[in-house]
Amino acid sequence: MKSQAPIGVFDSGLGGLSVLRQMCGQLPHEHFIYYGDTLHAPYGVRPTEEILRLSLDAADQLVRQGIKALVIACNTATGVALDSLQQRLDIPVIGIQPALEAAQAVRGEGEILVLATPATLKTERYARLLKQHGDHVISLPAPGLMEFVEREELSGPGLSAFLDQLLTPVAGQKIDVVVLGCTHYPFLSAALGHRFPDARLMDDSPRVTAALREALQARGQLNTQAGEGRVVLSSSGGEQAVQRMRRLLEVG
Ligand code: DGL
Repeated sequence: MKSQAPIGVFDSGLGGLSVLRQMCGQLPHEHFIYYGDTLHAPYGVRPTEEILRLSLDAADQLVRQGIKALVIACNTATGVALDSLQQRLDIPVIGIQPALEAAQAVRGEGEILVLATPATLKTERYARLLKQHGDHVISLPAPGLMEFVEREELSGPGLSAFLDQLLTPVAGQKIDVVVLGCTHYPFLSAALGHRFPDARLMDDSPRVTAALREALQARGQLNTQAGEGRVVLSSSGGEQAVQRMRRLLEVG
């Protein structure tokens, strides 16, 4: 596989763009193909077998385009399909997960609040993560939250009312870190940060980017050619969804 080959990235929709922008910033010579499975979003409220099938299909799409590595820019798909994809593919496959280890490193006396999809929180992978780094962790499923990003509703009274309701269980708790355990949520950082002015918001994309660099380096496949990498955006939701991606990358 040539070092100039693209890196494939997928999510159920627009959320993975929060990971893509980090990777583009850190690996500016790399070419990326992003695939958002908007037609089947959200993944996070679907049964496991369905998430697995959709994730394998999304990966196949990208593999057919000659990618040198695959990034699952979706916590839900990673929780369900990372092991299968790593077994099936002979390229590096990197997944994203709630950033509990990094959160523990900065936690003080307070709690770590993990916001994620119901499906992510039900996975065995998440149970294992909790066993290792689960001290003072409150896991809160947030069905319906990713849809605000898909609708490009990143602020306003509708989102505010939704967050009021969602965060009722943690009202009055001292929260040190909010872990954004779904790749859509970094686009809601302003609204979430406003709710938790004393907390750090953390997601796993810095670790994912470092893991990607390391995997490529180990195979001698980092693109060292001069010049800016290309980013191709694609979606099962068609041109309108791709336009939403472009807008979100501009404003998010
Ligand atoms: N962005 C995805 C994640 O990181 C999932 C959103 C969804 O499809 O429910 O979990």
